[in-house]
Amino acid sequence: MSIRIIPKAEINIPELVELIQQGHLLAIPTETVYGLAANASDEEALKKIYRLKNRPENHPLIIHIAPPRMEEDQSAFWERELSRWSSDVPPQAIALAEAFWPGPLTLILKKSRQVSDFVTGGQNTVGIRVPRHDLTIQILQAFGSGLAAPSANRFGRISPTSAQHVLEEFLNFMGDESLTILDGGQCEVGIESTILDLSRIDEVGPVILRPGMITAEDIFSVLGGEVSTNTHSEIRHSGGVLGHYAPQTLLISKETETLCTNDFMPQKIGVVTFGNFKELQDKWSSQLVDWYFLPKDADTVARSLYGLLRDLDNRGYQKIIFDQLPQDLAWSAIQDRLTRAIYGSGQH
Ligand code: TXA
Ligand code: MG
Repeated sequence: MSIRIIPKAEINIPELVELIQQGHLLAIPTETVYGLAANASDEEALKKIYRLKNRPENHPLIIHIAPPRMEEDQSAFWERELSRWSSDVPPQAIALAEAFWPGPLTLILKKSRQVSDFVTGGQNTVGIRVPRHDLTIQILQAFGSGLAAPSANRFGRISPTSAQHVLEEFLNFMGDESLTILDGGQCEVGIESTILDLSRIDEVGPVILRPGMITAEDIFSVLGGEVSTNTHSEIRHSGGVLGHYAPQTLLISKETETLCTNDFMPQKIGVVTFGNFKELQDKWSSQLVDWYFLPKDADTVARSLYGLLRDLDNRGYQKIIFDQLPQDLAWSAIQDRLTRAIYGSGQH
């Protein structure tokens, strides 16, 4: 029944590995978002993840594994490691691993017999990824097996991109559990990995189930052929739930160039814009609005999106207006998260 943050300088890898082996939960930093991690082969520990997150047990978890060490042959390593978790590793999986791992890509493959039903939600596939964060890589290499980890937020809420966010998520919900949060700084990518289904590649080709900062074009550049997207697949995945990643404050999308008097409220609102600071402030000299300016750069916006939404949600605005995003492929994952956040917002 305790929750604590360990600063990076005080982290002791062997101690953490021992905690994992004893069935404890760790919140681990990754390049995308923080994960709520446990030994992927320990069913009791996996149950703790579902309980603490308040997540339905039929939603599968991603297994995080270590990358090869410098001296190892990459392709042989991926072949061997993926075969531990999957009964059928297509050559495309090896090619993508070589191109993008460690990095923000999750591959869905047919599961091997050793993978627990608690990880896969009873499905015959498994999600695998290799995170790109020094500290987590050291833990995975020392542990020598897989860590199952969903994003370290309560079900349906905004994913955490700092250790402090994780603390805020669970502080009042610990019950009998205990959680050690490893402070690895702010996440570099900021939104969750691209999920690519290769489990039916012979029948339907590679299918993106959740867009991320590795785009269909990036995947095409390695595999060629066709890469399709199906974010409404019949496979249960919480990123596929429409009202996900949601703030409690009402969130709407509107081009801030077209703001009109009706958009302003008797109480304060927050407006996130790509527009010109001076022009907007001159035009709307209202005291009842706080402006947040973002650069039109997809990587920067992805990195700051969840932190910004959390911050805005804590400020007691009557509503939040978010400028329209550019429509090109580089922004598609950000658009996906924002659309879901808008859909699930304003519930309180
Ligand atoms: O970037 C990420 O992927 C982060 C970090 C912590 O690695 N993790 C993450 O996990 O976003 P989670 O559980 O919040 O979202 C993973 C999504 C879920 O919607 C889950 O249902 C789906 O991946 N998923 C996992 N295994 C799957 C499988 N075998 N088939 C289809 N979807 C799967
Ligand atoms: Mg999640």
